[in-house]
Amino acid sequence: MTRELSTPPAVSFGLLSGSPQPVLPAAQGLLLRPWEQADAPVFLSAYQDDEICRWHTRRPRTEARVLEWFDAYHQDWRSEKGGHWAAARKDGEVLGRIALRGFDFNDGVADVSYWVLPTARGRGVATSALAALSTWALDEIGFHRLYLEHSTRNHASCGVATKSGYLLEGTQCSAAMHDDGRHDMHLHARIRGD
Ligand SMILES: CC(C)(COP(=O)(O)OP(=O)(O)OC[C@H]1O[C@@H](n2cnc3c(N)ncnc32)[C@H](O)[C@@H]1OP(=O)(O)O)[C@@H](O)C(=O)NCCC(=O)NCCS
Repeated sequence: MTRELSTPPAVSFGLLSGSPQPVLPAAQGLLLRPWEQADAPVFLSAYQDDEICRWHTRRPRTEARVLEWFDAYHQDWRSEKGGHWAAARKDGEVLGRIALRGFDFNDGVADVSYWVLPTARGRGVATSALAALSTWALDEIGFHRLYLEHSTRNHASCGVATKSGYLLEGTQCSAAMHDDGRHDMHLHARIRGD
């Protein structure tokens, strides 16, 4: 098929789908690895946490539904739409989740999402996972811009973004629905080379 874009893609199509989703080492002895069926109970339990529910309105209700999500995650990788990782200790214990979604290979842009289980918070899990994922995406794969959005009321997420080099670009007014209504959203981004 003839390409209709005048510019070459920032990330080559087929680069990711041609190989299995990688396991990425992160600081604190963490591994970012693809989700496995055995993770379904802990993944489901995350959505019983008030803080995770406060900021994530899309929630699985059953383990069967979690497994469907995992299938969709693996399909996202194969179709080069996104990558979804468990942030786990080397012994396999899951501490959190991080994802890179909305792959736009032409512009080299993707967006980040994460949560950490309540028992694992406050010890750098989110920043370690985000650092490892960002280095891989920007320096190894060739993405140019990674961005993340969070409610202006979510100070913890703002801290993770800022600490990880995702600069605040502005506030999107009334941009996202939450259980308690519409929230203004911060837009943060990290650019390759910054
Ligand atoms: C936001 C969240 C992922 C942070 O995970 P974490 O592993 O505890 O974060 P880290 O330990 O890496 O913290 C990094 C920085 O974030 C900030 N931060 C973390 N928790 C915070 C809190 N409760 N209040 C204010 N700032 C906080 C701090 O600046 C911290 O740096 P410091 O430790 O040097 O002070 C976790 O609290 C969470 O899962 N919350 C619920 C779901 C959620 O908000 N997801 C993101 C939606 S956009």
